[in-house]
Amino acid sequence: MLGEESMKNYTDIKHIPKMLLDLVKSSKPNSMIDLGCGHGYSLRVLNARRLLPKKVVALDMDMRLIDEIGGVLPHIEALCGHIEAVGNILDTFDLVVCNQVIEHIKDDNKALDSMYKLLNPNGRLFISSIIRRPYALYIYKNKKGEVSVNPDHEREYLSLTHFGTTLIDSRFKIYNIKKRPFRTKFNIKVPGFFIVEAVCGKN
Ligand SMILES: C[S@@+](CC[C@H](N)C(=O)[O-])C[C@H]1O[C@@H](n2cnc3c(N)ncnc32)[C@H](O)[C@@H]1O
Repeated sequence: MLGEESMKNYTDIKHIPKMLLDLVKSSKPNSMIDLGCGHGYSLRVLNARRLLPKKVVALDMDMRLIDEIGGVLPHIEALCGHIEAVGNILDTFDLVVCNQVIEHIKDDNKALDSMYKLLNPNGRLFISSIIRRPYALYIYKNKKGEVSVNPDHEREYLSLTHFGTTLIDSRFKIYNIKKRPFRTKFNIKVPGFFIVEAVCGKN
């Protein structure tokens, strides 16, 4: 059954990271995989703007979300699976997307290794996550008792350098990396939390 989210019309530009939208427009990939696609907001925006590549795979470990995507975007391939497990199984892609997912995964190195394998030699990875500075303040705590923007996060990166180093240690070359303040849905900046976004390639 399709959830309430599937009924909403996510075509507004605010539902996709600007860095990702610019990357799709400039690189015009022929193939793309969205790892941990969730409700598929980015895919819906790209679809509405006729910017989806010819071949698109949406992957999430939650079968309900995969059913939902299959209903909303029936022309793309929607797969249920774990990011860490698909690197050796699936084809390679011109564009690999992993938006606000890696902080949910226990072994981030394993997930990055999988992303590396999924990327074409001249392909691009768009990846984003969360940075938590030592002075961060918010209402939630994670299971380790640390302040967190989401209690389900396995980790938040300590700085832009920490996130960048994690990518480089996984063999990626960074073309662009930026951080911006994390904001609540009421557009309030949360002290000490940032969204970090990067475009990478293979070394
Ligand atoms: C915060 S949501 C992000 C959704 C989407 N990328 C977006 O930007 O709207 C995190 C998503 O990652 C999925 N996820 C978490 N760990 C995963 C894993 N190891 N493999 C596949 N999906 C995973 C969750 O089911 C969830 O849908």
